[in-house]
Amino acid sequence: MSILITYAGNNSTTAECTKLLSEKLPGSHVVNLTKESPDISSYDTIIIGSCIRFNNIHSSVVNFIRNNLELLMEKDTAIYLCCGFPEKANQYLLHNFPKKLLDKSISIQCFGGKLRVKPHKLFDQLIIKTVQKNFKMENREYTEIDYESIQTMASDILPSKK
Ligand SMILES: Cc1cc2nc3c(=O)[nH]c(=O)nc-3n(C[C@H](O)[C@H](O)[C@H](O)COP(=O)(O)O)c2cc1C
Repeated sequence: MSILITYAGNNSTTAECTKLLSEKLPGSHVVNLTKESPDISSYDTIIIGSCIRFNNIHSSVVNFIRNNLELLMEKDTAIYLCCGFPEKANQYLLHNFPKKLLDKSISIQCFGGKLRVKPHKLFDQLIIKTVQKNFKMENREYTEIDYESIQTMASDILPSKK
């Protein structure tokens, strides 16, 4: 069984969720797509994770899929998102991923996200502050990491590897 988890995020949530997922998938390898372009040929299962920013997945994930789509179609695949508005996850998936990749994936999850963070960049801090204000005005609960969906993905993947 060989599992590669590829991911990209702008701040820290996607990295945190990726670490939690990898701990549930013994022997899995993790690659941060903002730093490396992995050779996926030797893996059976490729998991792709991305943060959402202004409705879009990370550009490193876009490039990874574009460069590997043919090979990805021959593998077991799974997809997860980290975002502040999980109720829009389906919309983000359809907008950002090739339909044929979505259709063949054995697990697709939204791992939630964090809006109570202090992002690295000033611009991001301003956006997060505005979003937080709106949440307060609407008396809405902040989005948090959805640990159950991380477990669900691990459980979806492990049986297919036996
Ligand atoms: C500049 C900016 C834009 C964002 N745009 C969206 C968005 O369009 N939809 C959404 O659901 N969440 C959005 N978010 C929330 C992020 O997806 C959420 O904070 C997530 O946890 C980020 O993952 P990361 O920490 O790995 O970058 C945005 C956050 C920032 C800072």
